[in-house]
Amino acid sequence: MVDSSVHRGLEDVTVAETRLSRIDGENGELVIGGYPLEELAPNATFEETLYLLWHGRLPTRDELGTFEADLASARSIPDETVGLLRLAAERGVPAMDAVRMGIAAATLAPTDAEQRPERDARLAVAQLPTVAATYWRLRNGEDPVEPDEDLGHAANFLYMLTGSEPSDDEVRGLETYLNSVVDHGLNASTFTARVVVSTESDVVSGVTGAVGALKGPLHGGAPGPVLEMLLDVSESGDPEGYVRDKLESGERLMGFGHRVYEVRDPRAAVLSDAAETFYDESGDAEFFEAAKEAERVGVELLEEHKPELGLNTNVEFYTAVLLHGIGIPRELFTAVFAVSRVGGWTAHALEQLDDNRLIRPRATYVGETDRRWTPIEER
Ligand code: CMC
Repeated sequence: MVDSSVHRGLEDVTVAETRLSRIDGENGELVIGGYPLEELAPNATFEETLYLLWHGRLPTRDELGTFEADLASARSIPDETVGLLRLAAERGVPAMDAVRMGIAAATLAPTDAEQRPERDARLAVAQLPTVAATYWRLRNGEDPVEPDEDLGHAANFLYMLTGSEPSDDEVRGLETYLNSVVDHGLNASTFTARVVVSTESDVVSGVTGAVGALKGPLHGGAPGPVLEMLLDVSESGDPEGYVRDKLESGERLMGFGHRVYEVRDPRAAVLSDAAETFYDESGDAEFFEAAKEAERVGVELLEEHKPELGLNTNVEFYTAVLLHGIGIPRELFTAVFAVSRVGGWTAHALEQLDDNRLIRPRATYVGETDRRWTPIEER
């Protein structure tokens, strides 16, 4: 029996105050920097959302111009980082491991000790897309594309990935995605970032740890498998049979269930709306319809499977659909999540440092007691 004072998984434990995002898990609502998700995500540029998180309000036109220029000027990564990513690509290291290694090297930039946390935050947000895109191009045997300071954050990322300027629709689709997942309370990776900086360590270390936490399939690693599932479902033509088989064999259905939401994740609706455009225009409406059917069947069968839990669609379901629609390769889905969430990680790190208290919980000891030392030859 687990001691009742032990909060496994820190479920329902509140450990910080934040002005960054508010989640209402019962009603399925998300507010970012005071704005309802549905209003902010489809309208803001990622730079506007980032400014909102870092400064507590939306920027004026002049402020935004300066902010965009500062961020754009920090995008290039050192040659040494490119060398490391080349090695990672040659050895087939997965994308998130490459991102973790590449972003850790952001500290190679010259240091201005006075502004260290803010500088680190800017470097981490500006360089993470460059790290991900550079890795991906090298992985595909292509030369990296230098960032273009004249392009916005989202447009430049797509440009660095493909080598050509994206369409307005693609930029808007990605921007909506980046805004939707930028912050979400004390999720595992954000908590990791806060724990690291609470020791008065640096923001790049916080971000590096957070990348590691995001990578797992219970957090940010789900959208790749969601896409595989949707492609299989679409091919099988039998969503119900497919989902039933998965649940009967004891597998978790990727893209469903959430620690906080007891209803449909509000980000699913925003991402689904954003995704629809791509499938209407590309003529692959069938795939989108199959995804919607898989969602309906998934929710219905999870209700049968675990009636008391209210398992419903989470953010990763339509993340997969939207990113696939934009043309992002599935191997990069979690890295693109990191391109966005690094905004939240850094905002939380700065918030933590602003009013820091070392995060240091306790554990109940359940191991052996009363042992006596035995010399090695007697064991
Ligand atoms: N499919 C099937 N069963 C599920 C699912 C699912 N997607 N989610 C939860 N359950 C079951 C689970 O098997 C468990 O049953 P039992 O008590 O018999 O072992 C019960 O529901 C409770 O699950 P839990 O793991 O204790 O719940 P949690 O709050 O720790 O898990 C979760 C939340 C997101 C990790 C989980 O729902 C899950 O594994 N979902 C699938 C992976 C996924 O989509 N991950 C993306 C998460 S959303 C993005 C983010 O926040 O980063």
